[in-house]
Amino acid sequence: MRLMMVVGVRPQVIKAAPLIDLLSRDSEVDFQLVYSRQHYDYEMSKVFFNELNLPDPIVNLEVGSGSHAEQTANIMLRIEPVIEKLKPDVVVVLGDANTTLAGALAAVKMRIPVAHVEAGLRSWDLSMPEEVNRVLTDHCSQVLYAPTKVAVRNLRSEGIPEYMILQSGDTMYDSILRHLKDVESSKILDELGISDEPFIVVTAHRAENVDFFDNLSKIVSALLKLRRVKIIFPVHPRTMKRLVEFDLKRKLEKASHIIMTKPVGYFDMLRLIKDAKAVLTDSGGIQKEAFILGTPCVTMRSRTEWVETIMLGGNVLVGADERLIVKEVMHAISNSDAIEKRLLSIPKPYGDGCASEKIVEDLKKRYFSGELKVGPIKPFQMAFSSKP
Ligand code: UD1
Ligand code: UDP
Repeated sequence: MRLMMVVGVRPQVIKAAPLIDLLSRDSEVDFQLVYSRQHYDYEMSKVFFNELNLPDPIVNLEVGSGSHAEQTANIMLRIEPVIEKLKPDVVVVLGDANTTLAGALAAVKMRIPVAHVEAGLRSWDLSMPEEVNRVLTDHCSQVLYAPTKVAVRNLRSEGIPEYMILQSGDTMYDSILRHLKDVESSKILDELGISDEPFIVVTAHRAENVDFFDNLSKIVSALLKLRRVKIIFPVHPRTMKRLVEFDLKRKLEKASHIIMTKPVGYFDMLRLIKDAKAVLTDSGGIQKEAFILGTPCVTMRSRTEWVETIMLGGNVLVGADERLIVKEVMHAISNSDAIEKRLLSIPKPYGDGCASEKIVEDLKKRYFSGELKVGPIKPFQMAFSSKP
């Protein structure tokens, strides 16, 4: 089976890593890794290939930054001849970035079956560009690997036929479990001089938070008020650009309780999340990682696709509301130990740590049985049709 995987942003490399490890060692698979280069700074891309021991991509599309249309269209234009040349039997895309949608659309229009890893997540808010990418990718894929029960339910409710869906579990969960020792070996706390101090970790990069002066300045004001603990803030390049443009970077630099850094490596990030009193973020992956590692999370969004983290009491939504951010972070810090104890004791909704194995197994089964095709949907298996 010739399997092409398309990745291009930081979290995709992380969620793809356990799959890449299996696929590149599988004698029944001719594995082709394509990198769009939507993310290109060393700290946003290559560092993860190095840390996670991943093979170099065989093709780099060199797409870089741009508007949504520009980026999505450029990836499609550049990947079409690659698909034409490499003739994959299946294209695997992951998550919800522009790279995900562009890879899926280009492939399916060339009648190459698409498998979507991390399918079925919904925030039910199309003003988030990621939601548009998720919905459209799911609806043009031939196989949908849903990380959770809720994700399966979402796909069913949109009429995706049952036979196209597998509740695989979450490959990011697999990845965390595989690297717990590396996380313990991280020296980041010493490097930042916070080994014996309580701290929280903060990340922000969603367009709705950082591209608007009003929202970013409210977030900055909240950070300035949260003086009770040290704040570690690895800054996404998009956010750094805006902090400079809006003249907010100086304010953060002047605050002695705030340590801003470049984006950090994966093991360092997990160590920060694990040892923090609380996490304040708008990231999708980090909400989940905080939950898995037992750290209370405060999420600067009005909706989340990772609903289990809320339902199971590990996460709370605060938008970009300065007062709410301060209130909920203080509450999380004060109750951190109790929340950690509870989160670590409950079963995780992300599978058994073998999502990657299940996905590879299932893809091979579908391919070798001849069922992996772009063609008419089998109507009698539609989710809501009555049984034949
Ligand atoms: C993208 C994804 C988002 C994901 C995030 C992970 C889309 C629509 N968004 O958002 O779902 O959560 O990646 O981090 O696909 N930049 C650099 N260097 C880099 C990369 C980006 O300087 O290596 C700067 C550029 O100014 C660029 C901006 O960051 O314009 C935004 O990058 P982009 O890839 O468009 O979106 P992200 O915010 O990273
Ligand atoms: N991450 C990292 N270093 C950082 C920030 C994030 O390694 O400085 C990791 C984080 O642990 C998680 C993933 O990147 O695995 C999340 O990526 P991001 O927040 O950029 O995207 P999202 O998950 O929101 O799509």
